[in-house]
Amino acid sequence: MKKTVAEILPYVALWALVSSLAYASDPSPLQDFCVAVNDSKAAVFVNGNFCQDTKMAMANDFFFPGLNIPGNTSNKLGSMVTPVTVAQIGGLNTLGISMARLDFAPYGLNPPHTHPRGTEILTVMEGTLYVGFVTSNPDNRLISKVLCQGDVFVFPIGLIHFQHNVGNTPAVAIAALSSQNPGVITIANAVFGSKPPISVDVLTKAFQVDNNTVSYLQAQFWPDNNGY
Ligand SMILES: *[C@@H]1O[C@H](CO)[C@@H](O)[C@H](O)[C@H]1NC(C)=O
Ligand SMILES: *[C@@H]1O[C@H](CO)[C@@H](O)[C@H](O)[C@H]1NC(C)=O
Ligand SMILES: *[C@@H]1O[C@H](CO)[C@@H](O)[C@H](O)[C@H]1NC(C)=O
Repeated sequence: MKKTVAEILPYVALWALVSSLAYASDPSPLQDFCVAVNDSKAAVFVNGNFCQDTKMAMANDFFFPGLNIPGNTSNKLGSMVTPVTVAQIGGLNTLGISMARLDFAPYGLNPPHTHPRGTEILTVMEGTLYVGFVTSNPDNRLISKVLCQGDVFVFPIGLIHFQHNVGNTPAVAIAALSSQNPGVITIANAVFGSKPPISVDVLTKAFQVDNNTVSYLQAQFWPDNNGY
């Protein structure tokens, strides 16, 4: 029996909703694994990466060495993030998980940033970190804590957060993230270091400061502490 448009429409709408939801985060796997094809010339964009033939998979597709090596914290922030995402381990493709090592010099800072695609759960391995995140509008409540070795803290997806080494010794943390490619937006870099710059008029109104202050901030070098 032929279905009318009115009968089909709800299914189309549901399909559109479901597919848009699916593309809003890492897709769930349709197979055991999907080792990413490492081809920068791949012309078609997919949400993730193409899958290598599963028969070709080898242990090295699921392997990353050297996370025992501290990141180089000799920069203005005194911190370095060493990510282990699908860019480093092709076998993470479609699996919705990744991790990072965070190193801090004494009093080093991982500045306010967000991960647009992943919740983060962080474990302090060494040192003392003052960490926090801010809830969305209108409350903008700061939820913060000083963490010691062995403490675990969660930064919910999308929320602005930071980690500051408040000790006079180096600090190390390991973070797990709920995306193969969680992304990073460092607030100062995005707002004051965009290329090309955001108009001074926009930033003076947004931050309620004079144009000299905005020009000063735009003239700074905003370091990226994400090592790749
Ligand atoms: C760490 O980074 C600084 C600044 O980029 C550089 O001068 C130094 O050689 C690096 N140290 C190591 C051990 O790579
Ligand atoms: C992909 O290729 C780039 C460039 O050759 C390399 O730096 C990177 O480590 C590769 N990634 C994986 C997961 O093999
Ligand atoms: C900054 O503000 C001053 C005083 O309002 C004005 O004379 C000047 O042209 C402004 N400069 C820029 C770059 O907008």
